[in-house]
Amino acid sequence: MQINRLHGVSRRQIVQHGLWGAAAIALARLPLRAFADEEAAGDQIIPFLEPQAIDAGKATLHWDALKDWITPMDQFFSVNHYGTPAGVGEGYKLQIDGLVEKPRSLSLDDLRKLPRKEVTATLECSGNGSSKTFIGAVGNAKWTGTPLAPLLKDCGLSPETVEIAFFGADHKIEKIRGGDYDQNFARALSLPDAQRDDIILAYEMNGQPLTAGHGAPLRLIVPGWYGIAWVKWLHRIEARDHRLMTRFMAKDYVTLRGEELPDGKIAWKESSVGPMNIKSMVAKVIRRKEGGVTIFGAAWSGLAPVKAVEVKIDEGEWRSAKIDDAHREPYTWRFWSFDWKDAKAGEHTVVSRGIDSKANIQPTSDEPAIKLKKTYYEANQQWPRKIKI
Ligand code: MTE
Repeated sequence: MQINRLHGVSRRQIVQHGLWGAAAIALARLPLRAFADEEAAGDQIIPFLEPQAIDAGKATLHWDALKDWITPMDQFFSVNHYGTPAGVGEGYKLQIDGLVEKPRSLSLDDLRKLPRKEVTATLECSGNGSSKTFIGAVGNAKWTGTPLAPLLKDCGLSPETVEIAFFGADHKIEKIRGGDYDQNFARALSLPDAQRDDIILAYEMNGQPLTAGHGAPLRLIVPGWYGIAWVKWLHRIEARDHRLMTRFMAKDYVTLRGEELPDGKIAWKESSVGPMNIKSMVAKVIRRKEGGVTIFGAAWSGLAPVKAVEVKIDEGEWRSAKIDDAHREPYTWRFWSFDWKDAKAGEHTVVSRGIDSKANIQPTSDEPAIKLKKTYYEANQQWPRKIKI
């Protein structure tokens, strides 16, 4: 059998992961049946009247080309606040210290010898959806590394520990109250959050060593949380007995939202960006060769699993979409489709909304959850799209 490339999987991947591992990657990359390969099937994409703005120099998800459950690397967005630090891999050591009995310093080889765990999870930047030109900052990938919780346990956490902080190797002078201070990128998780068994320290993405842009040699994977928590170029983990209040915990990536109280007053609260809110997107609308129109999209969440997706056309009723059951893990996006049987010629608005298992419904931009959100992050409002049939 000629196995130089098997649906995008290289001979190197086959050697590294064995034929079955490589076949699994290839299968995940196969266009889903529900997500037709339009060219192959002779179907036709109906273009959106407001196409997604794509910056040629930047990797971003191309919604109307969506068909792979695992996002192709050239479409996987990247966000680097302090640039990509150089030379992080040379003589790399991960420090674990703070309130631990046995501080540790681990090389990448040490980490690779620890139990290996794979997690497929969707990564979304919490700013995604905050403007018309920023809607492709989401992607789904298979992450491989070692679980964090047993490593913390081995270090002997002090009973006073309330929080685990993660520091990237990237740093910058930050102006704080008029002074200049060199700070590393840092985020923290409460102890119970950090002890979840699906949180890993990853050294691979989709079966390949992490690239520099995605945090090589090691990054934190926090399935179900917005990307800000997934610290790249991880070089230090600290157990703490009080809260970390650095830029990306307490000043930036903070959501200011008003909550309506029973007496009609509004309580304004700031909270650090955490788990992903329920969200869905219409990806593309297709005219079938054999007749009829199908709408495709994706839905994801972090607070509770996606339970349903509904579609609304113009001012019609919300109608149920069909969710793909074949491709799913607890914190991955779900693909969905909707057969639009009564599609008529003319201009239309199509929109979807996700509903999670705790009955959270993706809001419109006019609902209080979004209207009373005064900051940029956690932009999970519905995203209407216009087409002409
Ligand atoms: N980690 C470090 N060290 N520095 C960063 O700037 N950006 C965060 C997160 N981790 C960031 C980081 C943000 S805001 C996002 S959305 C994700 O990384 C993006 O991950 P990616 O670049 O691999 O897509």
